[in-house]
Amino acid sequence: MSEETRFGLEQPFFLHGGDYNPDQWLEHPEIIERDFELMDKANCNTFSIGVFSWTKLEPSDGVFDFGWLDNILNLCEKHGKRVFLATPTGARPAWLGNQFPETNRILKDGTRARWNERENHCYTSPVMREHAARIVTRLAERYGNHPAVCGWHISNEFNGECFCPLCLERFHNYLKDKYKTLETFNQAAWAGFWSHIYTDWSQIDPRDCTLDLLDLEWKRFITVCTVEFMKLETDIIRTYSQAPVTTNMMGFYNGLDYWRLAEACDFIADDCYPSWDKEEPLKVGARVAMSHDMHYAMKNKPFLMMESCPGRPEWCVRKMRRAGEFEREMLLAIGHGADGTMYFQWRKGRGGMEKFHGAVVDHDGSNRTMIFKRVADYGAKLKTLAEIHGAAIQADCAVISDWESRWALMSTFGFQGAPGQEKENDMPLRHYSALWGCHVSIAVIEQVCDFSKYKFLIVPSLYMLKKGVAERLIQFTEKGGTLILTNMTGMVDENNQAILGGFPGNGLRKFCGVWNEDVDCPDPGEQTVMLNGFQLNERNSFPVTGRCEIIHAEDADVLATYGLDFYKGYPAITRKKAGAGYVFYIAADLDEEVLTAFYKLLLMNLKIKPLLPGLPDCVRVAKRSKDGHDYYFVQNFSNELQHLSLSGKMMNIWSGNAKGNKIYLGPGESTILRA
Ligand code: GLA
Ligand code: ZN
Repeated sequence: MSEETRFGLEQPFFLHGGDYNPDQWLEHPEIIERDFELMDKANCNTFSIGVFSWTKLEPSDGVFDFGWLDNILNLCEKHGKRVFLATPTGARPAWLGNQFPETNRILKDGTRARWNERENHCYTSPVMREHAARIVTRLAERYGNHPAVCGWHISNEFNGECFCPLCLERFHNYLKDKYKTLETFNQAAWAGFWSHIYTDWSQIDPRDCTLDLLDLEWKRFITVCTVEFMKLETDIIRTYSQAPVTTNMMGFYNGLDYWRLAEACDFIADDCYPSWDKEEPLKVGARVAMSHDMHYAMKNKPFLMMESCPGRPEWCVRKMRRAGEFEREMLLAIGHGADGTMYFQWRKGRGGMEKFHGAVVDHDGSNRTMIFKRVADYGAKLKTLAEIHGAAIQADCAVISDWESRWALMSTFGFQGAPGQEKENDMPLRHYSALWGCHVSIAVIEQVCDFSKYKFLIVPSLYMLKKGVAERLIQFTEKGGTLILTNMTGMVDENNQAILGGFPGNGLRKFCGVWNEDVDCPDPGEQTVMLNGFQLNERNSFPVTGRCEIIHAEDADVLATYGLDFYKGYPAITRKKAGAGYVFYIAADLDEEVLTAFYKLLLMNLKIKPLLPGLPDCVRVAKRSKDGHDYYFVQNFSNELQHLSLSGKMMNIWSGNAKGNKIYLGPGESTILRA
């Protein structure tokens, strides 16, 4: 790695490495020395350093020690390792929490938390901000131009909320700025309900769930505070360093609107800990692929899988990985747009809650463990793939998964009856998963994204419509797009107030020719859907899995009707031509298999072909393209051997460089083909 340092993901190779915490090993210089030998053996090139090192850097208030970090960064430089230098604000020193209790959060029940654990500081506390700014300034000044530093890892997995008087006051100011007058706020919040009309901003308590706008605004506010705190750090870094900044996200973590956090990042980084042993591999795979597709879509650029576990994450997985599972997880990320995969962590610590959390180097300290060998083999193969680094993903299909709409739905009473509903990302995930089964590339976007680059857009339960979104959906369709709307679409506005005049609102009722009169939440098996003159999977009747909207086709073709109960014969799926495109409305929750069959049919009519033809149901494919070459990541999610017949010869560049049109994938195996 003799190239001069390049920044972030702009390296001429895939990043491979992990969280490295040498600050916990300073008393064992021989181990640190050994680490650098092992890093080469493991084919690792990049490390996040310093994530939890605040107390080592600042052992007491205003007293600093950078000697050890100078040494480590110099070693990294000497050994050609790239570093994402972390700001250590994810875990405060004990002296900070104890000397300044205001840095500890106040919990929902009003009690002040004691200093403990991590990622739990108040974002508003001036003392916290001052101390964070000071340590970040010291780091940025000192290492902003260090040749090993290729980027900045801001804090760690931002999460949580604080109800201290400072945060509450700031919340009130946030509302004041947004709504200007209490009258406006009271109207937006429908405050007449249970006599909740506020006569002073200070009366507004975000913990009161009487008015569902409160919870929504609180969540928006927490995102604003978190982004501001992050900016406090990044603004400092940017005055001293050219290297890009990021923070590690956690998939679809519900507590923060990650699209707003993404705006504060130069590139996207995500932590990914799938529980392969808890659900069917395809189910887990869909969740992970969906999250990757969102992280790619956030900047329409490759992202970094900042953390993953090379072994068994002690907090969520019981079983060790079976053959193929590790590579499958890594290639799932790269296929869906990661330009690097890194681990938590490089070496297992001797103590602490995570001492048995899978890591590259185990307590025995050798390169002889199965996990070390796996990592090393994977790293070696990754080196040969530099030609794919930076390759783009082009998707004709998109699925909307929108934080604010989800928040609004989750804080609304009334639909909890339907089993499995209103959890974090259920409906978007189900539709994503169904579409993934059609073997196409998918972008996962939010409702304010541009829709015009897609041909096929699925909008699952977009309960809240932001301003202008209905108009853009209509435009998308009229210009030739195919739009799928499902139940619970367009019921509330940005204040979580029901839209008047019949659902789906904001003109969508007229546009899709459907009026949603009411919602039934039957138990599974209590309702069915019958197709009208066509078949899917050689069947024409399917069980409903959850919500059923009682809809009227006011101006739409009825493709399917309900089969049972008092709304037997009512429409369940409709279609309407709109300009050059079509809008479909799916009123009932259907299972994934039916949805896949339905989407396959629609995609065929649209001439959107699967990325590779004739793939078995348990195989998934992703495609990246660069310099006129197409790369197909083909993955077997079953425990049986799968055999694929390609329409032309392709080069198998992952396992063997053989060229051919017959591919065999062992249980759980993945490979990469070059067209
Ligand atoms: C998170 C954190 C890491 C570590 C891992 C363990 O992702 O960021 O510090 O605790 O979990 O899985
Ligand atoms: Zn606070």
